[in-house]
Formats: sequence, C-alpha cells, structure tokens
Amino acid sequence: MSLCRGWDAAGHIVGASWNRSPGEALRWGDREIPRHTAIDPQSAGASAICLAVADDALPRVAHMLARAPWPSPSPLVFHLAGSVSLDALEPLARRGAITGSLHPLRSFPEAILRGGVLDGHLCAVTSDSEDGRRRLQRLARDVGGRPVDLDDGDRAAWHLAGVAGSNFLVAMMDFAEQQMARAGMDVETARAGLTLLAEGALRAVREVGPAKALTGPVARGDRSTLERHRRCLADHPRSSEVYEALVAYMTARLGESSGD
Ligand SMILES: NC(=O)c1ccc[n+]([C@@H]2O[C@H](COP(=O)([O-])OP(=O)(O)OC[C@H]3O[C@@H](n4cnc5c(N)ncnc54)[C@H](OP(=O)(O)O)[C@@H]3O)[C@@H](O)[C@H]2O)c1
Repeated sequence: MSLCRGWDAAGHIVGASWNRSPGEALRWGDREIPRHTAIDPQSAGASAICLAVADDALPRVAHMLARAPWPSPSPLVFHLAGSVSLDALEPLARRGAITGSLHPLRSFPEAILRGGVLDGHLCAVTSDSEDGRRRLQRLARDVGGRPVDLDDGDRAAWHLAGVAGSNFLVAMMDFAEQQMARAGMDVETARAGLTLLAEGALRAVREVGPAKALTGPVARGDRSTLERHRRCLADHPRSSEVYEALVAYMTARLGESSGD
C-alpha cells in the first residue's frame, strides 16, 4: 500500500488492487483505486503486477494469477519478499510473464505507516530478464529507493541482514526496556534514553564500522561487570541465553578483527 501510494504520486497508474477479503476501495487524495476479490489484470489493463502478499502465500497466488486473463502475453510480475526465490513465480514465467522481485530494505510497521517514500533505502532488484531488471530499478527509484542488483541465489543472506538490522534491533530494544523496568524506570523515560543511546551507537557504526564502534565490558575485557550482569539475569533464563550468545559473538568477532 505504501509503495502503491508512492508509485501513484510518481505518475504510475495504479489500476486496481486484488484482495482475498472484500474491503473498501483504496483512496489517496481524490484518487480512488478499485478493490476486487477476483484477480483480473485484464480489466485493470495492467502492464506490471505487484504481488504484495505474505511470503508463504506467494506460490498459491502465482498459480491463481497464472490462470487469470492477462492484458498482454508478457506482463511484468514481481513480488516484494526479500528471501523468496523467483522460483515461486515459475507458473507465471512458464506462461510468458517477465518475473522479478523488488525488496525494499525498509520496514513498514503497520502502526506508523506514512507515505510511500523509500528515502534512499536500498531496494534489491532481481529479474529473469534485463528488461524486467531495468523496469524494477525504475520503480524503485520512482519511490526514492536506491536499487541494487541481487542474485536470486543470494536472497537468504540479503534478507537475514535486513532482519538483523531491523527486527533484531527492535528485539534488542525490548530486551533493554525490560532491564530498565527491572531498574525501576518508567517506560517513557526508559524509551527516550535508550533510543538516544541506540541512535548514537548507530551513528558510530555508520562512521567507523562495528568493530571500532563497540564499547562496553566485552570490548574492555571487564569480566567482573559481565559477572554482575549474569547474576542479574540468573532468574531470567531466556534473556540469559540471549545475553550469553551475544557476549560469545562479540568476543569472537573482536578476536577476529584484532588479528586483521
Ligand atoms: N512490512 C514490511 O516491513 C516489509 C518490508 C519489505 C518487504 N515486505 C514484503 O512485502 C510483502 C507483504 O508484506 P506485508 O508486511 O505488507 O504483509 P501484510 O501486511 O501481512 O499483508 C499481507 C497480505 O497478504 C494477504 N494474504 C495472506 N495470506 C494470503 C493467502 N493465502 N492468499 C492471498 N492473500 C494472502 C493478506 O490478505 P488479507 O488481508 O485478506 O488477510 C494481506 O493483505 C511480503 O512479501 C513481505 O516480505 C514487507
């Protein structure tokens, strides 16, 4: 939806939206986008079709679309999933579609959906054809994205990087807030302080890279501090497991980078 809004603003004609469940037409400004429950690209005159469904639903939706009427013998059909191979679109390729994917390295949390602009975020582009790749690069640029080519076989590593850089960070902030609550801090104070702290850490990573940005007890080798943390987590086995895994990871990575 955010991307459609961006493409609409960039002058692309967003002709229709197909949804499993019936719902209101999509509206932005004075534009109204019809919403249908049956896939019918022909009636929408679509030259490009974006499959913005849950990753696991892609093969099923591709099969349905492969049986639908098409406006031309070879429309561009692409999905938005970071880790799903173009193999999921194979029934469409077999029928003559140009297939591809466009994966924005940006999270769109439902709670704060605003605009459709990618604002310089990387956007991985994969296609089974040069024409498809160029069209997807343009679609990425038109919503402010920075397209990068991604081989279909490298998708899992690309997506894992995105999950670590976004979802894991969010999980870490939750972990940190839990400890702040245990230290008697209210959520508002804790969140303000921790996000400021995290922003500083991210700035340092951007400027000097993770190895030099790392401060704290692992970087200093302060074992007694690590022991105090461990005692503090003694009754929290899940958090303790996460803590030990991260300390082990940081220790090993520091060892590797000092040998460079
Ligand atoms: N959200 C992000 O931050 C983000 C970032 C980059 C890429 N993506 C990719 O964008 C795609 C969409 O993600 P999203 O976060 O927008 O997901 P979402 O909000 O959960 O929406 C998923 C849509 O898929 C539909 N769907 C689920 N199962 C289906 C099925 N079996 N058959 C037909 N439709 C089905 C749902 O339809 P109903 O409404 O009828 O249930 C819903 O409209 C995914 O491939 C995801 O990997 C998401």
